[in-house]
Amino acid sequence: MSGKKERFGSRTAVIMAMAGSAIGLGNIWRFPYMVGEHGGAAFIVMYLLATLLLSLPVFITEVTIGRRSRKGAFSAMSELHPGHSIWEFVGLLAVIVPLLINSYYCVIGGWSLDFLLRSCAASFVRMSPSEVTSVFSQMSSSRWEPVVMHLSFMGISTFIVAHGVKAGIEKFSKISIPALFFLIIVMIFYSVTLPGASEGLKYLVKPDFSQVNGETMAYALGQSFYSLSLGMGAIITYGSYVHKEEDIVVSGAGTAVFDLTFAILAGFAIMPAVFAAGIEPGAGPGLIFQSVPYIFSSMGEEVPVISAAVSFIFFLAIVVAAMTSCISLIEVGVTFLGEKFNLSRKKSCCLLFVLCGGLGIVCSLQPSVFDSLDWFCSNVMLLVLAFCFVVFAGFVMKKEDVREEITNAGAKPLNVRLFNVIYFQIKWIAPIAIAVILVTNFIL
Ligand code: TRP
Repeated sequence: MSGKKERFGSRTAVIMAMAGSAIGLGNIWRFPYMVGEHGGAAFIVMYLLATLLLSLPVFITEVTIGRRSRKGAFSAMSELHPGHSIWEFVGLLAVIVPLLINSYYCVIGGWSLDFLLRSCAASFVRMSPSEVTSVFSQMSSSRWEPVVMHLSFMGISTFIVAHGVKAGIEKFSKISIPALFFLIIVMIFYSVTLPGASEGLKYLVKPDFSQVNGETMAYALGQSFYSLSLGMGAIITYGSYVHKEEDIVVSGAGTAVFDLTFAILAGFAIMPAVFAAGIEPGAGPGLIFQSVPYIFSSMGEEVPVISAAVSFIFFLAIVVAAMTSCISLIEVGVTFLGEKFNLSRKKSCCLLFVLCGGLGIVCSLQPSVFDSLDWFCSNVMLLVLAFCFVVFAGFVMKKEDVREEITNAGAKPLNVRLFNVIYFQIKWIAPIAIAVILVTNFIL
C-alpha cells in the first residue's frame, strides 16, 4: 500500500485494536495450562515480571519501528535500514512464525467450535467430573472429528480474510469480548464454590519458588510475548497505523494491563474447577476443555437451561476471540504474498489454507508435533525475533529517532522524563535478559 495510510482514530481505538489482537486463546486456553504445567503461583509471578520488565519495552520497540517506518512486519526494518539483507531475513521470519502459529492455533479453534456445537445440545448439563473429562479425551482422540472441526474453523477464518469481510467479525468481537469478560467473572463465583475448589485457589496464590528454573522463565516470557502478540511483527504492523500524536508508552501499558487482567481472571475461573474435578493441573493443552464444562454442569443442577445458555455464549465468545486473532495471523501472510509475489488476496488465502491446514492436520493427529511446534514458536522464535527487534531499535536506529517516537518529539513530558529508563531497558536489559533466558533454556 502506498500513499496515505489509514490511521487509528483515537487512543481508545489503538488500545482496543491491540487488546483485540492480544486477547485470544492465549489468555483463556494457553495461560491456565501453562500455569498448571509450570508450578502455579510461582509461574504467575514470573509472568508478571516478564511482562513488566521485558514485554513492555519490546511492545514499545515494535510500535516505534512500525510507526517510524510506516511499513508492515516484513519490510519495516529494511525500510529503516536499507541494503542489509539480515533485516530482510528477520522480516521474513516475522511472516513465517505467525503462519506456523496459525496452524496449531486453528486446531484449538476447532476444539472450541466442537464444544460450541456440544453446548447447543446442552450436553454438559448434570455430567460428573469424569464424564466431563472423557468428552474431551474422546473428541481429541477420535480420528476425524478434531480434523473436521479444525478445517472448518480455519476455512471460515480464511473465507473471511479472502472476502475482505473482516469488519463484520471485528465488530462482533466488540460485543463478545466484553461478554466473555463478564462471563469469566460469573464463572469465578461458580468455580470457587465447587467442593474442593480451595486447593485450586491456594495453587494460584501461594508461590513455590523452588519450582522456578531457566525453563520456567523461558515459558513465562514466551507466554507473555505470545499473549501480547509480540515477537512476530504483529505489533510492528499495528504500529504503522498508529497516529503521530499517540502516546506509545500509554498504549503499551494499557494493552498489557488489559491482557494481564484477562489471563489472571481466566486462571481464577479455571484452576479451582480443575482441582474440584480432580484433574491434574499439568494436564496440558486440553485443560480448559476438561475443566470448564464441569463448571457448567454444576451450574445446571437447578436450571439446566441457564447452564446450556452460559456454556453456549462462553464457547461462542471464545470462538470469536480466536477467530479475530486467527484472521490477523492469516492477514500477515496475505499482505506478504501480495507485496512480494503480487498474488491476489483469494489466491494467497487458498495457498495459506492448504499450507497451514495441512500442518494443522499433522498437529491435530500428533500431540508431539503440536507440542514441539508450540515450543519452537513460543519459546524459541518469539524470543529470537523480539531479541532482533530490540537490538535493531537499540543499536541500528539512531537514538534521536527512537526518542522522537517515544516522546512524540518532546510533546509528552512524562515520556521525556522516562525516556532514559525505557531506552536503557530496550538497549541493554531486554536483549541481555532475552539472550540469557534463551541460552539457559537450551542448556538446562
Ligand atoms: N495474542 C494472541 C492470543 O493471546 C495470539 C497471537 C499471537 C496473535 N500473535 C498474534 C494474534 C498476532 C494476532 C496477531 O491468543
